[in-house]
Amino acid sequence: MKLSLLAFAAFCLLSFQLTADSDLTPAQQRGKRIYTEGTSDDAQGITARMSGAAMPASVLPCGSCHGTDGRGRPEGGVTPSDLTWAALTRPYATQLQSGRKRSPYTEASLARAISEGVDPDGEELHVAMPRFEMSEADMSDLIAYLKMIDQDDDPGISDDLIRIGVNSDAISQYRVMAAYLDLVNQAGGLYGRKISLIQYAQFSFNTSVRPISMAKNIFSFVGGDPLVISTKETSKTKFLAEIPSVGTINPYFYTLSRPTYNQDFSLFADLKTQILRLWDYTTTQLSASPANTVILYKRGRVQDLLLESLQAYAKENEKQPFEVQEVIEWDDTIRTKFAEWAKDDKKIVIDLSINKEELVEFAAANNWYPHIISVALLMPSYSEWEAPKAFSQKIHIATPTWEGARDTAAMANYRALAARYDLPQNPSENDLHSLSAIILFTETLKTIGRDLTREKLIQSLESLRNFKTGFVPPLTYSLNRREGSRKVYIMTGEKGESGISWKLSQVME
Ligand code: HEC
Repeated sequence: MKLSLLAFAAFCLLSFQLTADSDLTPAQQRGKRIYTEGTSDDAQGITARMSGAAMPASVLPCGSCHGTDGRGRPEGGVTPSDLTWAALTRPYATQLQSGRKRSPYTEASLARAISEGVDPDGEELHVAMPRFEMSEADMSDLIAYLKMIDQDDDPGISDDLIRIGVNSDAISQYRVMAAYLDLVNQAGGLYGRKISLIQYAQFSFNTSVRPISMAKNIFSFVGGDPLVISTKETSKTKFLAEIPSVGTINPYFYTLSRPTYNQDFSLFADLKTQILRLWDYTTTQLSASPANTVILYKRGRVQDLLLESLQAYAKENEKQPFEVQEVIEWDDTIRTKFAEWAKDDKKIVIDLSINKEELVEFAAANNWYPHIISVALLMPSYSEWEAPKAFSQKIHIATPTWEGARDTAAMANYRALAARYDLPQNPSENDLHSLSAIILFTETLKTIGRDLTREKLIQSLESLRNFKTGFVPPLTYSLNRREGSRKVYIMTGEKGESGISWKLSQVME
């Protein structure tokens, strides 16, 4: 992959609002909040009473015992009942798991059960079921929600299947993730569910991959590119804003998608972070200053953002900004500039998406050999690249990961997987990043258990610290942190007999 990858088409981002639970009526949404969080807008609040002690219901929300799906799972010898409407109103006496028999509930007797702890036949419920005091309006909202709780599973989850998607048109990324999932599924899946992976693409010319607008019934995206979401009322892809993306791998798209899509738990830092760490490196290690440094820049959606953040960062640090030169073409204007800079002893070029091979050629033709620094999506693989020897140790790139971040045991696991599923023995970086993403996803699901929701997925990710996949730097997320690794590796190109080889100069964080 070439450094000039930054020269992508530009996308237009539109403002965006999160609309959770859009399929629920307002009453059902309020009821869901009472059920899952124990809170409402009522001034008196909701009180739970258990063994004589009163406490806010937020300490003991219904969902914490009956499950977010309402089906109730046994715990510590007691069995919180199945609260789905079908189970509560079955038109014959029901023998509950606890052994208690009772008649079907009506709305009135259900309200009584919740507030007074007696079933339709007047039998006391077990003390493990708290008694709740709430307003009539809250009770009616709660019951409205209980009537449809069995239809409120997050999309993509059924009794025996979790459907996930990858947003990428690269078949090799799909294959490596599907191979890993096959191993998981053959070992019984996760808590009784198999996982199936479907490939979609948001931006693709490959018509054999499904368009992203078809991703209606999936639980989460894993790996691939983050989504770039338009939330215009008319947008067909607005629904995507509610779907989490776990372990996305493409820093170029992070830079575009971040402002509007915060369900994206990326593996790496975006290009803005990378360019700032590169700036730190340049000022501290190469003594860059306005006197000796210029920024070469080509207009583009991402490049504009990078330039903006560089300038804001300089201001924040009370530094003079560097001279900026826009390059449209390699013409006489630029030629004159290069000659001037060579004469003025400018030593450093910060390169915002200029074709590097052309830049190097053009500088050499003008007898100018500055340090050239830029951000990269991946390690450049063009070791055969013909830069003159005078540029040895002068080309520096920032990259979010590199070979040295991999461990040998993990690579051995990859090779075993590759042998079994006929994957390449020499995987691309993106293949290994995709594998990291699916490992991140399945390991997080293991910590959640059977009662799986998107909300729980996000909560579990937010509490993940230093998670090691063995292929990329350790991953940490939190409430405010969506970049798994914020490390930036500064690599310097050394010109040898057989082309350029890249050496690690510094790790910035
Ligand atoms: C601390 C755990 C806990 C919490 C919190 C809790 N429940 Fe229960 N609930 C139980 C248990 C245990 C039972 C079974 C009692 C029995 O079988 O006698 C039960 C039984 C019930 C029943 C009776 C069902 C039947 O078939 O007879 C209803 C209705 C109910 N809960 C509704 C709720 C609602 C609504 C909330 C929230 C406002 C809630 N529960 C919160 C533990 C809990």
